[in-house]
Amino acid sequence: MTLAELLPSLGCEASDRLERAGWPPGTRLGADGELIFAGAAVSGLAARFGTPAYFLDEADVRRRAAAYRRALPEAEVAFAGKAMCVRSVLRWVAEEGLSLDTCSAGEIAVARSVGFPAERILLHGNVKTPEDLKAALGYGVGRIVLDSLDEIEQLGALAREGQRVLLRVTPDIDAGTHAKISTGAEGQKFGFSLRPDAADNVDRAVAAVLAQPSLVLTGLHCHLGSQVSRVDKYELAARRMVQVLAGIREKHGVTLTQLDLGGGHAVAYRPGDPEFDLAGYARRLRVALGYECSSRAFPMPRLTIEPGRAIVGQAGITVYRVGAVKRGSRTFVAVDGGMSDNPRPALYGAKYTARLVGRYSRAPHQEMVVVGRHCESGDVLADGIRLPGDIKAGDLLAVPCTGAYHHSLASNYNVVGRPPVVGVRDGVARLLVRRETEDDLLARDLG
Ligand code: LLP
Repeated sequence: MTLAELLPSLGCEASDRLERAGWPPGTRLGADGELIFAGAAVSGLAARFGTPAYFLDEADVRRRAAAYRRALPEAEVAFAGKAMCVRSVLRWVAEEGLSLDTCSAGEIAVARSVGFPAERILLHGNVKTPEDLKAALGYGVGRIVLDSLDEIEQLGALAREGQRVLLRVTPDIDAGTHAKISTGAEGQKFGFSLRPDAADNVDRAVAAVLAQPSLVLTGLHCHLGSQVSRVDKYELAARRMVQVLAGIREKHGVTLTQLDLGGGHAVAYRPGDPEFDLAGYARRLRVALGYECSSRAFPMPRLTIEPGRAIVGQAGITVYRVGAVKRGSRTFVAVDGGMSDNPRPALYGAKYTARLVGRYSRAPHQEMVVVGRHCESGDVLADGIRLPGDIKAGDLLAVPCTGAYHHSLASNYNVVGRPPVVGVRDGVARLLVRRETEDDLLARDLG
């Protein structure tokens, strides 16, 4: 007999308290194993909206947006729409005074549909289609961030007079994140190289933009990657970018006034994951920019930053229903969603936790694997996590920290409809994006 069997309460403690990481701060445990999310009981939400479903804490999104504004009042904070491009979310962040980073005609269409101020929108992308560029010009998007010599020519030909543009630079900084979401080092597809021996380097790009009468070069942009927890990497990027701005003034005689340092600020998905130090980031950027600018007699540029995950990641949870439990050499808990609503474990080896909700269990916890419904053995949502040993079909599981790059990365693999997105505030839930139906799925297939 194991110690946990002798003393069942030993394995139970994880049910009795809510681990802090991942959940929005207002999340708490109610009676009988209930989870209270943004003031609403999760089992009630699941009964009303079905499973799987994404739930988003509106107040938490607003609070995080406001925290960025407070930490860096002198900067423009642009929400990276790719993290969660939903109309209501764009309205919330617009109301909190944020700008918006977009990267396609589709994202611009969503922004346009809610009247997101065009002046506060940036368009990104390593290759923008003519439709993307036309959508940006048609809505009067404030700034377009250019990423290749081809694009400079293409936009130069399409734009009316006075289109403001930034150049994306590869700062050659390895931010120490997963290779698939690392974008600041040489040898990946984004940005103009700083290396003089690179054929398409920053100097050629500056000269090419200055030769386009319809474009106005206002600044530089860089983005180190995503899920970056090292504040010193951003400090290094800030220093390096001011050096580049000063070099451009010297060589080309233009003083650029904007510096966009991108996003990528890490969030904790699980207890023990590193948290991004926003206050430290703000402090160190200010000092680094101040020092580099004054020592080069360069006017302080207007700073833009582009957090996506840090605004919505921890504000979201996904709720699944357990369909089957298979006990063998490992215990598999199979749920009604999977890699179609969360491909991040398969793509980046991302690690998640999950918690039984809506029922109190005294059973000792055991190690289990939460798997999805798709036809691949890599369809794993949370590996090696501890759940009550009596978990069974019909139970509900909640996964924290699913607000960013879940709805926006979801697919119809196995012709499974994508889950709804439900906003919750002060206990009141509202459907923001409805569940995809079979009619939706058949509508595009013309037979
Ligand atoms: N700015 C630019 C130019 C970007 O490309 C990105 C993200 C961001 C800002 C926002 O990064 P964030 O603060 O959200 O980390 N699908 C991946 C993440 C890809 C990020 C792409 N670009 C994931 O699920 O981890």
